[in-house]
Amino acid sequence: MAENGDADFSRPLLFEVAWEVANKVGTIYTVIKSKVPFTVEEYGNRYCLIGPFSPKTGPMEVEPIENPASAPLRDTLKQMRDKGIRVTYGRWLVEGGPAVILFDVASAHNRIGEWKTDLEGHLKVPFPADDYDTNEAVAFGYLVSWFFDEFPAPLADASDADRKTPLVLAHFHEWMAGVALPLVKAKKIPLATVFTVHNTLLGRYLCAGDVDFYNNLKRFDVESEATKRGILHRYAVERAAVQSSDVFTAVSHITAYEAEWLCQRKPDGVLPNGLNVVKFSALHEFQNLHAIHKERIHEFVRGHFYGHYDFDLERTLYVFTAGRYEYRNKGIDMFIDGLARLNKRLISSGSTTTIVAFIVMPAATLGYTVDSLKGQAVMKQLTQTAEQVERQITERLMEVAARGRLPTPKDLLDSNDLVLLKRRVYALRRDQNPPVVTHNMADEDNDPILNQLKRVGLNNAPGDRVKVVFHPEYLNANNPLFGMDYDDFVRGCHLGVFPSYYEPWGYTPAECTVMGVPTITTNLSGYGCFMDESVSNPRDYGIYILDRRVKSPEESASQLVNALWDFVTKNRRQRINQRNRTERLSDLLDWRRLGVEYQKARWVAVKRKFPQVS
Ligand code: UDP
Ligand code: G6P
Ligand code: GLC
Repeated sequence: MAENGDADFSRPLLFEVAWEVANKVGTIYTVIKSKVPFTVEEYGNRYCLIGPFSPKTGPMEVEPIENPASAPLRDTLKQMRDKGIRVTYGRWLVEGGPAVILFDVASAHNRIGEWKTDLEGHLKVPFPADDYDTNEAVAFGYLVSWFFDEFPAPLADASDADRKTPLVLAHFHEWMAGVALPLVKAKKIPLATVFTVHNTLLGRYLCAGDVDFYNNLKRFDVESEATKRGILHRYAVERAAVQSSDVFTAVSHITAYEAEWLCQRKPDGVLPNGLNVVKFSALHEFQNLHAIHKERIHEFVRGHFYGHYDFDLERTLYVFTAGRYEYRNKGIDMFIDGLARLNKRLISSGSTTTIVAFIVMPAATLGYTVDSLKGQAVMKQLTQTAEQVERQITERLMEVAARGRLPTPKDLLDSNDLVLLKRRVYALRRDQNPPVVTHNMADEDNDPILNQLKRVGLNNAPGDRVKVVFHPEYLNANNPLFGMDYDDFVRGCHLGVFPSYYEPWGYTPAECTVMGVPTITTNLSGYGCFMDESVSNPRDYGIYILDRRVKSPEESASQLVNALWDFVTKNRRQRINQRNRTERLSDLLDWRRLGVEYQKARWVAVKRKFPQVS
């Protein structure tokens, strides 16, 4: 890690350990990857990340380096390799290019039994044989603690003058990387540790069920709730990691509150998630980008609603929600309910505004529906025909005008053009309403989104002012319907709606903000709480924060409809102004600002572990 070997105790080494280092599973990958440039600026080559080696994506993520230049690192990895552990060391191919160590967990599979027995001894909880993720987490945790045990480190009680080796800090994220922490503590390894939760295992489970989570937080019998759900062993790992770290943190105040009760330790601080804002900032270009990407969404909408395209795109607003398919946690139940109420309000007010609401959430599917693909195909054919006719009109006009005659309307379209166009127009006919979903669902009958849309009567009927498109797959530029990356789609939309019930942070609204797209969020999301604290009147900046903590579900739902109504009744000028104000909040979410919280946490960890360090 210290490639030039010049590190000393005054320049500590920093390791960051997570299951999602160079291994994209969920959003922690985004947290770490976006923070890398900022951390590299501070630590340079004294920074190294540790993760598992994924045979599928690892080779694309990392450029291997045969041997680390740093002698302690080289020796440590050699000792582990000599005992049969496969390790990839190299540069993570992300902005900042930090050093990375990826343990091939499979090379330790033969030791899992022995390690699990040892861990059972530490945690006093039985570990089942067949929980694949836990087995992986155990192997990874033991490899990480083995690494730190071998790595030359200063003695915790050495005075500065005696210290020959650099002080070592390690920041761990989430329970999958948590196994190492109780081991580091039990072995008294001189390592200053920080542990961050991005959610709690029990919290996620309990919220997804039908419980009044926040009002009962202090009363849950945590072990019995974990046992009921078959996750006592995972919970034990998480709680041990929380309780063994020198500094324990959560990504938001709402998660800190949850963790205090569920993991039984009050967090020492909150480390909000930042973004690499440079990636999103388009230097005042974001308004133009909105217009460009909105045009792409228009194209999709013309195709999707073919045969029923009777609304004015100039008076159409695009609202959306996106993320992992957690129906209740992400507040999709409230979103659909809000859309149904908005539809009624718009109809009864005689409004001519149309809302197209997108739900982008991956689910098991059997691919795109024929109807969705057909919609885009017939639109493409119509465009080609219109372009062909346009070329012919130009030729005809030229021909007539070149002969010195002024063209008349009759010179424009001839009967062949009309036949071509008629054919295309007939192809646009369809009897049924445009579908509410773009894919064939693997289990349509039990899909909560489709069932709720049916229940509330949102089915893209001609008179509806609110139309719905459920796209059960993440977006990407190769998508045959949209052909857009997610970020571009967000820019083209008018409003992001994230009425989450359980959302430790919530990158989706934060990403909207830095792209100048207003959002609706809640005071149960980390992002919502953060904005509430940081901005004096968030609503003025296009951040609508629903109260889902104190208010009843009915009251929160009314707040949602009122926020939607407030938004959809704005005129274009007001929307443009609001986008400008939203985008001005970007700096609040930049790692340059939020990364400071990480620095503070590390500083406290060092103070606690090595009190003699001044
Ligand atoms: N996302 C994506 N493609 C999509 C829709 C969403 O990559 O089509 C990403 C989005 O950019 C965000 C993440 O999914 O970073 C969702 O993260 P969030 O923190 O909102 O929720 P989580 O999934 O971690 O609970
Ligand atoms: C941006 C563009 C304008 C465009 C506007 C549309 O501000 O720079 O040229 O008129 O977007 O806004 P709207 O909210 O109606 O999509
Ligand atoms: C978890 C949370 C999400 C958060 C992410 C990154 O996936 O559910 O709210 O944004 O971690 O911290």
